[in-house]
Amino acid sequence: MIKGWIFDLDGVITDTAEFHFKAWKQLADEEGLSFTREDNEQLRGVSRADSLRLLLKGKTVTDQHFEEMMTRKNGYYQELVEKMGPEDALPGARELVKELRSRGIKTAIGSSSRNAGRVIELLQMEDIFDTIADGHSVANAKPAPDLFLHAASQLGLSPDECVVVEDAEAGVEAALAGGMCAVGIGPAERVGKAHYVYAETADIDLKEVMG
Ligand code: BG6
Ligand code: MG
Repeated sequence: MIKGWIFDLDGVITDTAEFHFKAWKQLADEEGLSFTREDNEQLRGVSRADSLRLLLKGKTVTDQHFEEMMTRKNGYYQELVEKMGPEDALPGARELVKELRSRGIKTAIGSSSRNAGRVIELLQMEDIFDTIADGHSVANAKPAPDLFLHAASQLGLSPDECVVVEDAEAGVEAALAGGMCAVGIGPAERVGKAHYVYAETADIDLKEVMG
């Protein structure tokens, strides 16, 4: 029986992909690296360090330079994020989480982002999630199931009692590896392995998923 829903943040609750793109693009320009919108698509759901590795395309740098570049990109990202407000929640997201809670379902965020807490605060959604599992919570990033397993345990639930909503391939893989019910948001080429696939968060059919 489903007792909890765990939501990815970026691409499910709000759309921060454009902010990540702008921040990575600024860093790439400064470093003389090529980076396109298409490249950015590959970074969906990917941790900050793994994203930078993809951006570097095999170019070797010192550990210190690597750390400095991650910090610099994050600074650019945070500047953009600070302009966010409650209106930046994706259509239907707030309503869905509230509806679940009114049915006694527990709710969590399961995001790879270390900025997830701040983004939730800016969206004014802190009070509709029981727990936030983020980029600080576990060592192994998606597609490892660790983050979602951590979120489930924070909710006091077993994996098979949880639904995960994800817009990234790595996130769907993580949910499946954790033995959870996966709801994919986006095109089938990206999230087609999920048990249920919808184009947008607003399209999620609760009756279909909850039975
Ligand atoms: C994910 C995003 O939610 O978080 C990725 O989809 C991002 O694009 C990752 O790289 C890590 O985010 P942050 O905020 O810790 O750099
Ligand atoms: Mg996402």
